[in-house]
Formats: sequence, structure tokens, C-alpha cells
Amino acid sequence: MSLLSPEWTALLYLVAAVCFILALKGLSSPRTARRGNAIGAAGALLAVVTVFLSARLENVPLILAAIAVGSAIAFPVARRVQMTQMPQLVALFNGVGGGAAALVAVLELGHQEDPWVRLAVVFTMLVGAVSFAGSAVTVGKLQELISTRPLLFPGMPWVMGAVLLGAVFSGALVVVTGSLGWSLALLGLGLAAGLLLVLPVGGADVPIVISLLNAFTGLAVAASGVVLGNVLLLVAGTLVGASGTILTKVMASAMGRGVGGIMFGAFKGGSTAGSTALSDRPVRSSSPEDIAVQLGYAQRVVIVPGYGLAVAQGQHTVAELATALVARGVDVVFAIHPVAGRMPGHMNVLLAEANVPYESLRELAEVNPEFATTDIVLVVGANDVVNPAAKSSPGSPIYGMPILEVVQAQQVVFLKRSMRPGFAGIENELLHDPKTTLLFGDAKDSLARVLGAVKAL
Ligand code: TAP
Repeated sequence: MSLLSPEWTALLYLVAAVCFILALKGLSSPRTARRGNAIGAAGALLAVVTVFLSARLENVPLILAAIAVGSAIAFPVARRVQMTQMPQLVALFNGVGGGAAALVAVLELGHQEDPWVRLAVVFTMLVGAVSFAGSAVTVGKLQELISTRPLLFPGMPWVMGAVLLGAVFSGALVVVTGSLGWSLALLGLGLAAGLLLVLPVGGADVPIVISLLNAFTGLAVAASGVVLGNVLLLVAGTLVGASGTILTKVMASAMGRGVGGIMFGAFKGGSTAGSTALSDRPVRSSSPEDIAVQLGYAQRVVIVPGYGLAVAQGQHTVAELATALVARGVDVVFAIHPVAGRMPGHMNVLLAEANVPYESLRELAEVNPEFATTDIVLVVGANDVVNPAAKSSPGSPIYGMPILEVVQAQQVVFLKRSMRPGFAGIENELLHDPKTTLLFGDAKDSLARVLGAVKAL
């Protein structure tokens, strides 16, 4: 017997749906993101409790055991994951969500006679399987378990076409016959389509594909809401689908790319991962003391944080350096590129951890006109987001990506460990520019040495 009436169930689902919407609203700004996350988690908890109280569940001990196993895996993994590995974790959770939706659809098939609902079953199985397999490849690429270069084989577009045709054929048979055998074939073809879709994508584009697959999982979950007659799944899935689609578009345009070009660019020969050859051309390097003098006696300094700052965990040291410079009367701001780092908002999260005030952060469009009047730009572990090749080299994988135009400033100082390129794998001409100085070393160590020297001025 269920403890909740249908009216109470609908009301609690409505409250959970409102929580999900408020969560998204909260996540749209770094100031409110933490609260938004908590509201979303509360909505999810309410939804799960409502299911237990409203549905006549069989196998409750098994369900509780599955929740316990899932939580026992997810808690420590989520607590221990490095910030730089967050995209992999998101991809993993997302893929598992798509896979779960596909399995639920297979199990539900036997209970459905209506061809329209069977169509929703087919959609859930196919899209969920694509999302599961595609996400597994993205995790492999980001963890470098498989090559980050586009992986292609001769005739791949034809194989992809045949897989999709096969999926449409077996999907139609599932709708007409409700056959379990054909639904397993459909699952297999969905998994193959997921692999074939993501293998040709180059490493630098993988975070965008994660966001696209996130939207796919949302759609699969929404369709499973139709299958199970559950309005909350429909609402939650639609929200994930819509927000994932918007995020995909925003990230693609921040990189100056189209989503079609990212997914299928490699077939046209335009590799998305460039050469990783090291440059042996000369560069000008300097000491922490010299850089401290440059910074300490400047009027205006712009700090450009990038992926390397996150790797070095130098956020607290860079915040301290900014404070020390401000105390000397230097005007200091941080320039945030929308795709600096490896996930949306990466630099905002990193600097918020070190309590850098939001007032000191400048977005790309706002800061670019200010570089001409900037004495020194301190580029900390960033590379692609300041690489002028994005404007000057039509063949380059980052061509068209809006960049922070640090080349306009009087002086540029790079903190990095070597002459290795950034994620896109291409050389940065700016490192050889006469106005550029390099300080080689781990960003946190270099920042600490420069900070010490600034304090000693
Ligand atoms: P990158 O171009 O990847 O450059 C990072 C730099 O940090 C490298 O030059 C590396 O040089 C240096 N570095 C790494 N570890 C370091 C350490 N411990 N100390 C000092 N330096 C270190 O980073 P970016 O400028 O932030 O650009 C982000 C890239 O990711 C772009 O290509 C972007 O398109 C791509 N991407 C980002 C996103 C999102 S949403 N953020 C999504 C898709 C793609 P060394 O190895 O020589 O130290």
C-alpha cells in the first residue's frame, strides 16, 4: 500500500521540479552556485523519498542495496577527485545516467503495448546507449587511457551510416513487435554509435562533447519519464537536455567553433589536435626578482590564469601576490577567458576558492580593450587562450577562438614549466615575442618566489 495519495505525490514532485529550476538559476552565477547545488540535491532527495512513499515498490531491499552500493562508490570518488579531473567525473556520472535510462527502458518494454510509448522506449534505449558509450570514450580520452587525437579508420562515415540505418530498422521492429531480441540489438547499435561518434573528436574538444552527451542523457531521461508515466523524470530530463544544449552552444562559440565542426571536423581532414612538437627557438627567460621589480613598480597589472594554475594549485599564492601588489598601489585585475582550464567556469571556481573578490575579475570582452593601457600581463599556466594563432593562422586548430589579446600590453610574463604547448597542441608565437619574458617552473613555486621578492622590495 502506498503512503501518499496521488495529489500529495504530484505536489511533492512539483516542489522537487521547482528545486531543480532554482538550482539551475543558482548555478548561473559563482556567488549563488553553492546554494543552487544544495537546492538541487534537496530536490533530488525529495524526489527519491516521494517515490518510496508513493509507489508500490517490489524488491525494496534490492533497491536499497543498489542505492547503498552506488553511494559507497560515488561519495569517496566525488570527495577525492582533483578539480582538474572534474570533467571526467561529470562525464562518468552522465554516462551512467544515460546507461541507466536505457536499461530501465529495456525492462519496461514488456509492460508497454501502446506503439507511441514503445517509440519513447526505443528513443530512450538508443540515446541512452549512445550517451553511455560516448561518455566512456570521453573519460578515456581525458584520462589519457586512449589517445586524445582524433581516432579514425577508413570508411568510418559509411560504418556510422550503416549503424544508424540498422538502429532505425531494429527500432522500428521493437515498436511493432515489442521483441526483446531486437531491443538488445538496438542497444548494441546505440553503443557502437556512441563509440563512432566520439572517437574522431580531438582532445581539446572533448569537454564540449561531454556537454552535448549530457544533453543527450537529459533527453533519454525525459523519454523514460514518458515510458514510466513519471512527470518529474520528464521535467528533470527536459531541464538537463535544455541546459546541456545551451552550454554546448556557449562553449562552442567561446572557442569560435560550430558544434557540427567539432563532431565531424576530423572526417574532413581538419584535425582538432595539433602537433605537439617542442619548439627549440630562443626565448627570453628571467628571474623571480626581476619580475617582482617589473610588477611592483607597474601601474596596472593583468593576471591571466589558465589550466596550469589549477594543476599547480597556485590559486592561494596568486591571490596573495595580487594582494601584495594592490598594497603597493598597483591596479591588479584577473582576466578570465571563458574556456581557460578544462571546464566551464574553471578559473572562477579556482579563484573563488582563494577568496579573490569578484570585483577583480574581468571577462574577455571587458578586458580586451584595456590591454593597450596595461603595463604587464602575468600569464600563469595559460597558453591557448592567449595564443595569437587564433587570429592569424587560418589552418590552426584554435583559429577563430576569441582570445585574450595580451600582445597589446607593454610587457608579457609567462609562468610555465617548459616550452610544451597547451591543450590544442600548437606553438605559441607570443612566447618568442620581444616583449615576452618567461619564468620556468611550477606555477605555485614561481608565484611564491615572485611574491617573496615583491615583499622584499
Ligand atoms: P592550455 O592552453 O592547456 O595551457 C596550459 C599551460 O599551463 C601549458 O602551457 C602548460 O605548459 C602550463 N602548465 C601546466 N601545468 C603547469 C604547472 N604545474 N605550472 C606551470 N605551468 C603549467 O590552458 P589554457 O590557456 O587555460 O587553455 C585551455 C585549453 O583547454 C584551450 O585549448 C581550450 O579550448 C581547451 N578547452 C577548455 C574547455 C573549458 S570549458 N575550459 C573546454 C574545451 C577545451 P608547461 O607544460 O610547459 O608547464
